Amino acid sequence: MYTEIEIKSLINKALSSIITRNSPVELYDPILYSISIGGKRIRPVLCLLCYNLFKETIDNNIIMPAAGIEIFHGFTLIHDDIMDNAEIRRGNTTVHKKWNKNTAILSGDAMCMEAYRLVTQTSTNYLPQILDVFGKTAAQVCEGQQFDINFESRFLISEDDYLMMIGLKTAAMVAASAKIGAIVGEASISDCENLYQFGYNLGMAFQIQDDVLDTYGNPAVFGKAIGGDIVSNKKTFLLVSALIRAQGRQMCNLENLLKAENIAVDEKIEEIKKIFDELEIKQLADTRISHYFKAAMEYLDRIEMNLYRKENIIKFTNELIDRNY
Ligand code: IPE
Ligand code: IPE
Ligand code: MG
Ligand code: MG
Ligand code: MG
Repeated sequence: MYTEIEIKSLINKALSSIITRNSPVELYDPILYSISIGGKRIRPVLCLLCYNLFKETIDNNIIMPAAGIEIFHGFTLIHDDIMDNAEIRRGNTTVHKKWNKNTAILSGDAMCMEAYRLVTQTSTNYLPQILDVFGKTAAQVCEGQQFDINFESRFLISEDDYLMMIGLKTAAMVAASAKIGAIVGEASISDCENLYQFGYNLGMAFQIQDDVLDTYGNPAVFGKAIGGDIVSNKKTFLLVSALIRAQGRQMCNLENLLKAENIAVDEKIEEIKKIFDELEIKQLADTRISHYFKAAMEYLDRIEMNLYRKENIIKFTNELIDRNY
């Protein structure tokens, strides 16, 4: 069995052999940049960990699809940063700010194409299934991203709407990463589904954590600008819950802050955070995050194999529970 560190180094080695400085450099340099400045690599690591539950040796048949998943993720981040007007990613300037929007769009497009090529670089008999999962999931990410943007200008979003949106934009790809590892590992249909659900619940917890860190995280560690979601009226778990819970004066203040056009960015962040604190929204989020982690573990429990084989994946999950970046 491979440790998470060994798996991460396999992924990074593959990524650096795939993405090299190429012509035109204006297209490829931003791609190299976005891959080399870091990232937790949770999706490809999860994919390989799931594969390794069923197969002893990790080879290119699964490394290439896993690398493709990471490159697809990198593409979504570059475009997401344009959509969210974000200036910092992975502790560095975002591609559209360092270069420009056209560059970010085209380099992102090239990454999306490369991702599809890599996902097919496997000699498994299950290629049609992999492409089906990957293609459906890629479309779901776009759907989720569109709901995310639509919700910015809608005042009241139900918790169900929010959960549907993050299920599409984030959890689906985490789930697909796990499932693709299981498919190539020739797991049974029911274990492929168990690992999909494991990944899905992990992804839900992961996005709610991301929402919390966007407001409460440490900027030096998180690698993104704190308060960006508040500035753009993102319907995060925090804001959705606050709008459901707020009453009277708090509701009035929240409404005014969301509508205010001439307010200083820092003041808006501070005032909205104050309302979150009064309503104890962070505690609510933490409870919900724990719920999803627990649900994820229940799906892992359904896979019948020696507990020893699941050790690395359990360790990986426990590290995610405690993440602050
Ligand atoms: C960021 O994903 C987008 C979300 C789904 C929250 P990650 O937090 O996995 O980003 P990197 O790859 O580690 O930078
Ligand atoms: C983006 O969600 C999820 C994607 C599919 C890219 P966010 O907009 O919350 O991601 P961050 O916070 O910018 O990483
Ligand atoms: Mg976004
Ligand atoms: Mg964003
Ligand atoms: Mg976020």
